[in-house]
Amino acid sequence: MDTVLTKSPELAAEFIRNGGIVAFPTETVYGLGANVFNARAIKKIFKVKKRPGDNPLIAHVASVDQIKQLTSGINGRAEKFINAFFPGPLTIVLHKSERVSNIATAGLDTIGVRMPRLEIAREFLSACGTPVVAPSANISGRPSPTTWQSVAEDMFGKIECFLQGDMTEIGLESTVVDCTEETPLLLRQGAISLEELQAVVAGTKLHLPATGDLIKSPGLKHRHYSPRAKVRILDRDLQITDTDRVAFIGLKKHNETFKRELICDSIDEYAHSLYEFFRKCDRWSIDIIYCEPVEEKGIGAALMDRIRRAAQS
Ligand code: TXA
Ligand code: MG
Repeated sequence: MDTVLTKSPELAAEFIRNGGIVAFPTETVYGLGANVFNARAIKKIFKVKKRPGDNPLIAHVASVDQIKQLTSGINGRAEKFINAFFPGPLTIVLHKSERVSNIATAGLDTIGVRMPRLEIAREFLSACGTPVVAPSANISGRPSPTTWQSVAEDMFGKIECFLQGDMTEIGLESTVVDCTEETPLLLRQGAISLEELQAVVAGTKLHLPATGDLIKSPGLKHRHYSPRAKVRILDRDLQITDTDRVAFIGLKKHNETFKRELICDSIDEYAHSLYEFFRKCDRWSIDIIYCEPVEEKGIGAALMDRIRRAAQS
């Protein structure tokens, strides 16, 4: 298939309106978009991403009105989060409306909704004239793409169009909060932290799935965010014997000299760079990537969550 590369949100939106799939930037990571009401296009997303059919998609909206088309109603908790954080890197899970097909939600009666704040994403979504479901634009299991070139690595020739933008600002996927029950549950950590959610709705809790109770957050049980290289959390005392095909990412320079290393100025910068560094390490045929652990505050919690998942697989 010919893949059209464009910087025009209007042109990219035309592909969505015609039933195509478009990769587009947001402030978190690049997404792979399709019209939420086009079952055929949604099935194609699952196919090109090799995504398990039991992992639901997030619907991206340009306005609060569009949230009303997708859900059976916006409760008080959700309204508070919307007022505080939309547009921004937060996904809110609510009961879905009849209009939304089970294919998008992987059979769940709930749907995740998110309003990105990146200007080009907002222009694109407005021009689509419909909510757009979009998982991260990687092959399932690979690190989410934060540049359009990394999208191309996984998706070139497989989808109709790429909306080209800059490297994404945050670099980790959105925070996901389930608002279907009285107590909001944080399902996936992201740039908006548990503390920030609690400042808006006091009782919000971190959802720690017990075995057999993964259904609330189906995405979390799948292999995630992994480069081909092995990822290890770097303990300061760890003896590293062979630094030849070994890389390092962190905040402080380690006493070893690695073949490749990225020293970041801040935790934000570390989060922003992590996935792209993982992908670069694969291009450089690195065997092991050592990641410096950081304090689990603010985006540090999301960063450590992603590093741990990558280290597990
Ligand atoms: O930042 C992001 O959220 C990016 C950009 C493109 O917006 N998208 C993204 O989508 O990360 P994806 O599909 O890679 O991750 C969606 C996550 C999965 O963990 C999925 O299980 C969860 O959100 N999710 C989606 N709908 C849900 C629902 N109805 N109930 C519970 N979890 C849901
Ligand atoms: Mg993903």
